[in-house]
Amino acid sequence: MESRVVLVTGGSRGIGRAVALRFAEKGSKLLVNFFQDREAAEKTARDAADRGVEAIAFQADVKDPEQIRGMFREVQGRFGRLDVLVHNAASGVLRQTLELTAKHWDWVMATNARSLLLCAREAAGAMTNGGRIVSLSSLGSDRVIPQYAAIGVSKAALESLTRYLAAELAPRGITVNAVSAGAVPTEIWNLIPDGQTILEKIRERTPSARLLTPEDVAEIVYFLASPQAHMIQGQVVVVDGGYSLVA
Ligand SMILES: NC(=O)c1ccc[n+]([C@@H]2O[C@H](COP(=O)([O-])OP(=O)(O)OC[C@H]3O[C@@H](n4cnc5c(N)ncnc54)[C@H](OP(=O)(O)O)[C@@H]3O)[C@@H](O)[C@H]2O)c1
Repeated sequence: MESRVVLVTGGSRGIGRAVALRFAEKGSKLLVNFFQDREAAEKTARDAADRGVEAIAFQADVKDPEQIRGMFREVQGRFGRLDVLVHNAASGVLRQTLELTAKHWDWVMATNARSLLLCAREAAGAMTNGGRIVSLSSLGSDRVIPQYAAIGVSKAALESLTRYLAAELAPRGITVNAVSAGAVPTEIWNLIPDGQTILEKIRERTPSARLLTPEDVAEIVYFLASPQAHMIQGQVVVVDGGYSLVA
């Protein structure tokens, strides 16, 4: 069993929850960050603790630089260091590109992309013996998905920032990578108009003949955070069952 200290942003539900539990199974201590859903975050932390590790839920809005600093103060105070940052929290506005307002743009960019910069700076300061930063991206970063411009652009920024951070942090033994997932049927899909129909169409055209699970994605995040992945730097690993291969 390992005893790494891991912070998962947006760890309350969906992919973040699966990532938190994957690390917990291996003995990592956890800070499970959330924004609004305290009950879900506390359940994730309890389920992690049931696997024999120390785990706490911590509220912080990753759009807010001061709340990010507070979250990392909590990590330092409680665990004394950080080994792995999983930058998973995300939010979005689904609109035609020209219908996006400045407020929509700023909200999505701050939640999904700027937060990586701010969290990575704090994380790098807390990684005393090298470390791992893994972010969640999506296929919309370099493909056009209807109504997805705000999120797609924020994920493109996240992927680019991943490369810059990787080059700067590599000499300190810190790797920075991203996992770009295909569609994963998490709660967010219930809020998307026709979400279930779209998921079924995605399943039909996925060469691997099924949709991804949060656990499929968590496994790749876990690998990129492993010692074995120490020479993988600044990469975006696509996990989509072959969906994006098909013309
Ligand atoms: N689901 C997919 O099909 C899919 C595909 C590709 C990539 N991804 C990426 O994978 C990641 C997780 O996706 P998901 O479907 O699991 O998401 P989700 O179910 O919508 O959960 C989002 C998580 O982010 C947290 N969050 C949102 N805004 C936040 C903020 N301002 N500060 C802190 N936390 C915040 C939420 O916290 P609360 O619960 O407290 O609100 C929640 O834990 C995202 O980066 C997403 O873009 C998802």
